[in-house]
Amino acid sequence: MTQPEHDVLKAAQDNLWLHFTRHSAYQQSEIPTIVRGEGSYVYDIHGKRYLDGLAGLFVVQVGHGRQELAEAAAKQAQELAFFPLWSYAHPKAAELAQRLAAHTPGELNRVFFTTGGGEAVETAWKLAKQYYKLIGKPLKHKVISRQIAYHGTPQGALSITGIPAFKQMFEPLVPGSIRVPNTNHYRADEITGVKGMSPEEYGIWAAERVARAIEMEGPDTVAAVFAEPVQNAGGCFPPPPGYFQRLREICDEYDVLLVSDEVICAFGRLGTMFGGQKFDYVPDIITCAKGMTSGYSPIGAMIAHERLFEPFKSGDTMFAHGYTFGGHPVSAAVALANLDIFEREDLLGHVTRNEPRFKQTLDDLRDLPIVGDVRGSGYFWGIELVKDKTTKETFTADESERLLRGFLSKALFDAGLYCRADDRGDPVIQLAPPLIAGQKEFDEIGAILRGVLAEAWAQL
Ligand SMILES: Cc1ncc(COP(=O)(O)O)c(C=O)c1O
Repeated sequence: MTQPEHDVLKAAQDNLWLHFTRHSAYQQSEIPTIVRGEGSYVYDIHGKRYLDGLAGLFVVQVGHGRQELAEAAAKQAQELAFFPLWSYAHPKAAELAQRLAAHTPGELNRVFFTTGGGEAVETAWKLAKQYYKLIGKPLKHKVISRQIAYHGTPQGALSITGIPAFKQMFEPLVPGSIRVPNTNHYRADEITGVKGMSPEEYGIWAAERVARAIEMEGPDTVAAVFAEPVQNAGGCFPPPPGYFQRLREICDEYDVLLVSDEVICAFGRLGTMFGGQKFDYVPDIITCAKGMTSGYSPIGAMIAHERLFEPFKSGDTMFAHGYTFGGHPVSAAVALANLDIFEREDLLGHVTRNEPRFKQTLDDLRDLPIVGDVRGSGYFWGIELVKDKTTKETFTADESERLLRGFLSKALFDAGLYCRADDRGDPVIQLAPPLIAGQKEFDEIGAILRGVLAEAWAQL
């Protein structure tokens, strides 16, 4: 190891505070340190190559090492490195807002920039509260979201998040957030208490839980429902057929805003520019971030239906909310260049054409005794691991700890695949490679998973 490499590893150990990380895991070993990326691959400080099976963190849509995005950032930094969107505009934010609005469904034309996804969610809740105050429904402030769903870490977004373990140590959080069941069809029998519902029946059942929650809370008090097109936490739950159509009807019936949290699902992750387009629904608000720049610079957005902007158009009304770096000129310029790549390389078409191949590659793993379910959409898939395929019995907390943290994460990484082994719901492995990946990368993912999952089973 060279001295500079040693220095970096020591600095990481001594001074970095990693996110969502048990630092105890690195007491005896070095912190994995990634130094560069190229296409669908990243390289660690020792020069070892890994397939980036998670696109960083559902972010690097166009792949690593794109010079044109680096150049767009440099050019913008020279021209105008910074100016805020507080009472002023700059050309790149304006152009990006227009371009995003052109891609959104319906009349979602108002773009409020943030620096990331959690802020976009936070912004959406605050807008929902103020909007209803302005239109004479001041009691409407509560939000509904789904069990195990992750919506970010600011205290409002965390309140919307449905993972108790991430919330307990920060309680009390923002009040007024209510949970309903998610759409894990593999576990539908347990969730509904009814055996063998068809996907269609389950979709209606799950949507109706939202209606019941609104009624129980009082429709006059509920402002919004937050749902991802495909729920990430828990392991990629696609909506059952009809789910979002019924949810849209329910939101209209009770005058509740439908917020599509597309922090992961926008920008081609599902093969469409926005996630709701994959499932044919038009929300009132979209929250997005991650893939907007493919990670070459941070930015997020809350995109609202024009009617939600209406009460802010006149008089002394304003949305008293903002972020210094929201819509940063460099990030906006990079986002525009990123969208150019999407168009030039037809990335949406590429994902749509290749989705069946990716699915097939993962479905081929179903012969392994540990693979219970394979589910997802586009380039966003989860593999649920079980102890018993027939009964769908899952692992105990202790087994899950040993399997996921003790073995799988590290074994997959050591085998050259960076992906996520997650136990926020039942144990799953999640895959979301860069959108440029194709059969070669799928095969590599499939081969590594097969070897490591077989070994995991043997170790149980
Ligand atoms: C659906 C969803 N919402 C919100 C967030 C929070 O985004 P950020 O980490 O950019 O704040 C995430 C992050 O993964 C997410 O997946």
